[in-house]
Amino acid sequence: MSRLKVVVVNGSPTRPSRTRALAESIVAEIEREVAVDTAFVDLAEVGTALGASLFRKGLPQHLEDALLSIEAADLLVVASPVYKGSYPGLFKHVFDLVAPEALTGKPVLLAATGGGDKHALVIEHQLRPLFGFFRAQTLPTGIYGAEADLKDYVISSDTLASRVTDAALEAVRALRQLGAERAPAAPSPTRVRDSVAA
Ligand SMILES: Cc1cc2nc3c(=O)[nH]c(=O)nc-3n(C[C@H](O)[C@H](O)[C@H](O)COP(=O)(O)O)c2cc1C
Repeated sequence: MSRLKVVVVNGSPTRPSRTRALAESIVAEIEREVAVDTAFVDLAEVGTALGASLFRKGLPQHLEDALLSIEAADLLVVASPVYKGSYPGLFKHVFDLVAPEALTGKPVLLAATGGGDKHALVIEHQLRPLFGFFRAQTLPTGIYGAEADLKDYVISSDTLASRVTDAALEAVRALRQLGAERAPAAPSPTRVRDSVAA
């Protein structure tokens, strides 16, 4: 069976990025528990080409590949900086290009970073409704980090660290469930008896 695929979408157009640092911590927690293949789609890498691409048709191949990886992920980790009380416009543009039915039922872990705590509800008021449109399965625990929680691009707050652990655990449960559903079914005892008798 192929390994489960985790795709991180980092909505920050900058490098280094606190959002990226937070996403990396989340993925590290998940990878401690489950063997997964992880890929990152960073706005810092794809943003310029993305801004010049209005439609899915005719996208440069690296952008099409990024969108296909999002659509094929077993788990999405969606992490965005807060811009003007919401997610950046280019972050939304990524999801404007994703097929509307492609994320149905997909587990999505939501995370955001901001200057302070004032816009911590960006997760509930902006990100969660976007994935509600896609009928994705957003995980209950969202993770928000302010600049003071990520000094020098490392998690420096115990509260944030324990939030990462809680949310990663929910992601691990979702991945384990997917893994179990995909595992080949064990032969039933009747079948084993039949084949021994034959
Ligand atoms: C254009 C712009 C708008 C921003 N708007 C907000 C905001 O409305 N609320 C907030 O808390 N922080 C805001 N910030 C701060 C960023 O969200 C914060 O520094 C974030 O951690 C940056 O993430 P990054 O390092 O991954 O790019 C803004 C930053 C920029 C550049």
